[in-house]
Amino acid sequence: MRTNVLITGASSGLGAGMARVLAEKGHHLAITARRVERLEALKTEIETAHPGVRVVTHALDVTDHDQVFDVFTAAAADLGGLDRVIVNAGLGKGGRIGTGRFHANKQTAETNFVAALAQCEAAMEHFYERKAGHLVVISSMSAMRGMPSSMTTYAATKAGIAHLAEGIRSDLINRKGHDIKVTTLYPGYIASEMNEGVQQETRMMVDTETGCRALVKAIEREVVDAAVPAWPWAPLGQVMKHAPLGVVRRMV
Ligand SMILES: NC(=O)c1ccc[n+]([C@@H]2O[C@H](COP(=O)([O-])OP(=O)(O)OC[C@H]3O[C@@H](n4cnc5c(N)ncnc54)[C@H](OP(=O)(O)O)[C@@H]3O)[C@@H](O)[C@H]2O)c1
Repeated sequence: MRTNVLITGASSGLGAGMARVLAEKGHHLAITARRVERLEALKTEIETAHPGVRVVTHALDVTDHDQVFDVFTAAAADLGGLDRVIVNAGLGKGGRIGTGRFHANKQTAETNFVAALAQCEAAMEHFYERKAGHLVVISSMSAMRGMPSSMTTYAATKAGIAHLAEGIRSDLINRKGHDIKVTTLYPGYIASEMNEGVQQETRMMVDTETGCRALVKAIEREVVDAAVPAWPWAPLGQVMKHAPLGVVRRMV
């Protein structure tokens, strides 16, 4: 079992939800985010519900890249090594390209892609040293194609991190004597702070717990990649990949 799990962006939504499900299954956790008071509340909740589970918290802004490396090292020391890292912290800000929203688009690009790169670097350094570990990257169904309007930068970052994960996986091919796996997850609509109040998404949205249970199931199977929940997102993903762009833009 990959006992010790670090999760970034664990102060709300999918990160907090996955922490709850993983704790139920007996994993020790390092939970990180900027809102530390949320992390402390989650730690108390989890340790009360599961007295055998150890939870450590670390304040982490993933766009502070030095801090990413420092916090991963500190969390590994706290727990006696990290067996799995879930690169989850993310942002959904943005606007149509060319409409003066560069600042928001840049912030999304920096948080979802450059900061994810820092997290992958820090995690893989640790896993290479230990010759073991599981890197999990939270992409999005929006990574399937170029997306319009406020989704353009977000979708591009999510496609970017999926390719980043695939490249890391490629580095592991023919590398002997290790147990390192890389999983890319493509969530559909799962209720969280990010999509609160977004009306058109609710048709296909599952609640946070259902979504997080499905995410953890895919993580524990250590699949290469998966659309989550599988229904309707796995078949829809195939349609999104092959449909004309004019059709795809009406699907989001
Ligand atoms: N919910 C969905 O339907 C859905 C679908 C596809 C993909 N995703 C992906 O799932 C991941 C989690 O999102 P969510 O839906 O759970 O949204 P959320 O509830 O808004 O959670 C986002 C998390 O990311 C953290 N975060 C944001 N910027 C950060 C930064 N600079 N440094 C550190 N942490 C940061 C936030 O923590 P602090 O603000 O406390 O730092 C928060 O814990 C994201 O990568 C998102 O793109 C979600």
